[in-house]
Amino acid sequence: MDPPSPDIHIDAADDAEYQRQLSLFSKCSTEKGIELIKTGMVIETLPRRERFLDIGAGGGHLTIPIAQQFEMTTIVEPNPRQAEIFKRRCPDFQIYNDSWMDIDLGDEHFDLILCSHVLYYISEGSWMQTVEKMYRHLSPGGCLIIVMQSPLGEVADFFNNFTTYDVPILDLARDVITLYGDDAVLLQYFQNEIYSESLDDVVEIGLFLLLDQKFIDRKSEIAEYFRKHHTVNCGYLIRQDEILLVIRKLPGHIGTAEG
Ligand SMILES: C[S@@+](CC[C@H](N)C(=O)[O-])C[C@H]1O[C@@H](n2cnc3c(N)ncnc32)[C@H](O)[C@@H]1O
Repeated sequence: MDPPSPDIHIDAADDAEYQRQLSLFSKCSTEKGIELIKTGMVIETLPRRERFLDIGAGGGHLTIPIAQQFEMTTIVEPNPRQAEIFKRRCPDFQIYNDSWMDIDLGDEHFDLILCSHVLYYISEGSWMQTVEKMYRHLSPGGCLIIVMQSPLGEVADFFNNFTTYDVPILDLARDVITLYGDDAVLLQYFQNEIYSESLDDVVEIGLFLLLDQKFIDRKSEIAEYFRKHHTVNCGYLIRQDEILLVIRKLPGHIGTAEG
């Protein structure tokens, strides 16, 4: 990302392409499976499993299985096509076709709030404000999970070859520890694998990861990069390092963000 910006948007012409790349990525990556395991471990610790909020639910690869563990699921998804798909697939969900900054959820509170791979779309200067708004909607004992790509590892190296990837996730972790206390915050590092036998598929996934369709003009360079750095015996393997930040609303904690 160069740098993550609120101006990143996917217009209608790019949308079908984006959906196709998202589903290819989900098929070839272990990411969602591992995220579900990590999220499940947090869910185990919740005092209640009544209400789940997924911010930027995307294709629902996490939303739908996690929702099975809660009585009620709410999603905030600004992409109209995704929101429409959710309305058809999950009529029981409460669905807001809006962005997190604009939505007004009143005094609704949630036992689990998930924000997985969404902060890139929000300007870094607004991250803390964004997280504080999420925290305000946590029930006592509830958890907010933020997942992001690590600035280290093979995917970050790929980014840095074509653009820059310097998302300040550690600055965010430091700021939330300062605000909510280190007993309320947990940071986990984990690694996924993206694998395909097809170079074309890996290139499509590379375009998806780069978050900007302008790189489509550099497809052959991307292919050459993966051929050079990620060829294994019978295909292409890219390790993806990710960071999971969990913030728990400790009962009795007021903080500046208490709503
Ligand atoms: C990379 S996808 C992640 C989807 C899903 N959370 C996952 O991890 O599989 C990012 C999603 O965030 C949504 N999004 C972008 N900006 C947002 C915002 N300001 N508020 C809420 N969601 C946003 C996009 O529409 C997209 O569905």
